[in-house]
Amino acid sequence: MSGSFTTTAARNIFYGGTMFFLLVFLALTFQNEQIIPKRDRREMLSNPQIAAGKKVWETNNCVGCHTLLGEGAYFAPELGNVTKRLGSKEAVMAFIKARPVEGIPGRRSMPQFNLTDQQLNDVATFLDYVSKIDTAKWPPNIQG
Ligand code: HEC
Repeated sequence: MSGSFTTTAARNIFYGGTMFFLLVFLALTFQNEQIIPKRDRREMLSNPQIAAGKKVWETNNCVGCHTLLGEGAYFAPELGNVTKRLGSKEAVMAFIKARPVEGIPGRRSMPQFNLTDQQLNDVATFLDYVSKIDTAKWPPNIQG
């Protein structure tokens, strides 16, 4: 049996395998090149309110407690899909405005940020934008 595995056979497996995976790699690269420009909505660049909302997000260090599409701290809920979870942009704004809610045993509480109506609207617009990014169905459930 071992005699039938020749140097030529080994070489053919090497070249064949290399060729096969090179083709798979090229096909996946090509597919990515097709998909990614459609996912990247480039809205952030054209809509100043989304950019302003991102700024509110950053300057208030929301990511110090929350994750956004998985990136951030694990103290508070994932917010990449929060608009879908709470139902609307208005509900997100009302939630942030109504904090803190304290005294519920076992529940973490979010501080009041005293955002202006404009900042509140901006950050909710940013979160709404994030919730519409095509993330290939991630997170897998609505809780995030
Ligand atoms: C100190 C930690 C902390 C920071 C900083 C923080 N949050 Fe929160 N946030 C929480 C906690 C804890 C909850 C869950 C509280 C609750 O359900 O009452 C929450 C919940 C939320 C929710 C509702 C999530 C859901 O699914 O119900 C939204 C929206 C939200 N935060 C937005 C923000 C934004 C925007 C900022 C930045 C301006 C921010 N948070 C900063 C702690 C924080």
